[in-house]
Amino acid sequence: MNTQNLIDTASKLVADDKGLLAMDESNPTCNKRFAKLDIPQTVEARRAYRELIITTPGLGESISGVILYDETIRQQKKDGSPFLKVLGDAGIIPGIKVDTGAKDLAAHPGEKITEGLDGLRDRLKEYCQMGARFAKWRAVIAVGEGIPTRSCIEANAHALARYAALCQEAGLVPIVEPEVLMEGDHTLERCRQVTEEVLRNVFIQINCQRVLLEGMILKPNMVLPGLACPTQESVDEVAKITVKSLWRTVPAAVPGIAFLSGGQSAELASARLNLMNLRFKSQLPWALSFSFARAIQQPALEIWRGEESNVEGAQQALLHRARYNRAARRGEYTASMEKT
Ligand code: 13P
Repeated sequence: MNTQNLIDTASKLVADDKGLLAMDESNPTCNKRFAKLDIPQTVEARRAYRELIITTPGLGESISGVILYDETIRQQKKDGSPFLKVLGDAGIIPGIKVDTGAKDLAAHPGEKITEGLDGLRDRLKEYCQMGARFAKWRAVIAVGEGIPTRSCIEANAHALARYAALCQEAGLVPIVEPEVLMEGDHTLERCRQVTEEVLRNVFIQINCQRVLLEGMILKPNMVLPGLACPTQESVDEVAKITVKSLWRTVPAAVPGIAFLSGGQSAELASARLNLMNLRFKSQLPWALSFSFARAIQQPALEIWRGEESNVEGAQQALLHRARYNRAARRGEYTASMEKT
C-alpha cells in the first residue's frame, strides 16, 4: 500500500476550497430522474447528459473530483474522446461508485444493507488501472419507529470499513458514505442521535479494519429534521448541531468531510455549508466540503430536459452551483448570488 499516494490524493480532493461532484447515479436512479422530466431513459441520453456535465467550461475551477458510475467511466464524448481524458484535461480527479446498491436487510423490515463486497478486490484493480483515484460506497440508514436497529448500523458500518480497507489496498481513496435519510417526520434531535451513533460505529469499524484515517474522506449527511417534521430549524441551528456532532465523532486525522445533499434544495445545501465554514472553520481539524449530486445537478437537469439547444444554459446553471459551493467552503456564499 502506497500510503503517501493515498494521503496526497485525499488532500487534493479537498484542497483549494474545491469539492466533489457526484454523477454516479445508477441507471435506475438516473432513469427515474429523467422520467420526471420526460427525458428518454436510454444509454444515449445518459451519455449525452454526462457529456454535458464533464464538458462544462471552467468546472475544474470549483470541482476537484467527480464520482462516476460503471457505465460512465467507460464512455466517450460524441467525438470519441474518452470521458476520462476530458476529466484529465480539465484537472479533475476521476472517482467511481463501487457498491452495488442498498438491498433489504433480512429480518429487519424497513432497513437496508449495502452490497458489493464480493469480487470487489478485482473490480477495484480494474478501475485503478483505468485511471480512477478514489471510490465511493453509500450505506443508507432509515429513521422511523424502532429503527435504525443496532444490527443495521453495525452491519453497514462493517461493510463500509471492509470496502475502505480494500480501496486503500488497491491505491484508491475511499469515500465513506453513511447516509442517515431525511425521509420521515423525525426531529433534528433524533437525527443528531442517530447520526452520532452511526458515525461512532463507522469509526470503530474503520479502526478495526486498519483503515488509514489520513487516506480517506467521510461523506456524511448534515444533521437535519425529517422532511415531514413540522419543526424545521434555521440554517444557524443546523450548522451548529451538525458541526457539534462531527466534533464528537470524527477523528482529527481525517483530512476532509464532504457532505451529501440528500434531497435538500440546492440553495439550502449551500447556505448550510457556508454557515458551518463561516462560523467554525478556524476551529475545525478537517476541511468541511461538499460531494453533492442533486444540489449541484438538479437545476441544470431541469434546464437541459434532453434538448441539445439547452446544453449551454444547463452548463451555466451547473457551473453556478459549483461556484456557489466553493464560495460556501470559504464562508463567502450569500443568497444574493443566486440572483446574478
Ligand atoms: P445527493 O447529494 O443527491 O444526496 O447525492 C450524493 C450521493 O453521492 C449519494 O450517494
